[in-house]
Amino acid sequence: MQIFGVDIGGSGIKGAPVDLDKGDLAQERHKVLTPHPATPEAVADGVKQVVDHFGWTGPVGVTFPGVVTDGATIRTAANVDDSWIDTDARALLGERLGGLPVTVVNDADAAGVAEMHFGAGRDRRGTVILLTLGTGIGSAVFVDGVLVPNTELGHLELDGHDAEKRASSKAREDHDMTWEHWAVHRVRKYLAHVEMLFSPELFILGGGVSRKSHKFLPYIEGIKAEIVPAQLQNNAGIVGAAMRAAER
Ligand code: BGC
Repeated sequence: MQIFGVDIGGSGIKGAPVDLDKGDLAQERHKVLTPHPATPEAVADGVKQVVDHFGWTGPVGVTFPGVVTDGATIRTAANVDDSWIDTDARALLGERLGGLPVTVVNDADAAGVAEMHFGAGRDRRGTVILLTLGTGIGSAVFVDGVLVPNTELGHLELDGHDAEKRASSKAREDHDMTWEHWAVHRVRKYLAHVEMLFSPELFILGGGVSRKSHKFLPYIEGIKAEIVPAQLQNNAGIVGAAMRAAER
């Protein structure tokens, strides 16, 4: 079966039909730039361009970089325009897509669902935590494969700051940190904090940096849980969004 998946990110809105049996894109994905300001109307236009590019007419799963309840309502918008808060994104996008059924899901939850099924978390029981280290930090917590949605561990307090402002990939770039400095003083400290709270068996690190894990994972010591990079990389959000839409 195929369902369309869209990933709304800080720089791009990407999407493709997803082959749910393989957990992979059925066609090469299409991307448009995320408008700035990333208001609901402007982003909805971007989503429409991506979906229309394929002439798609079936169900659509869409990721959002904030808390999403019931597959529809946006509750927080840390790194996109504030006007998203309390928007019924399912209704907005559904209408813009000419009445297609839409499911909206937090971006890290979507990536986590895909990794647990097709990637680094396959067949893993117990507590597994996926963290996406990107513009912000997203989290997806699983217990025996079942997702606890909207966990928002990126906003834990770390050294008196919002953790994502210290340990995200953007923080590393903004403050010109070496991979080693970032790994030792930011990511390791953050993982130790999350480990203290949840004692997971496994951490899966996702986001763009998952492709560069050799540059920083070797510096992360003293964490009891196993730490592995995400495997689906850039497509995890698209695949996971489609999987959530299929469940609905
Ligand atoms: C948001 C999360 C999101 C993460 C990654 C955070 O700022 O609060 O909901 O998953 O960024 O985009």
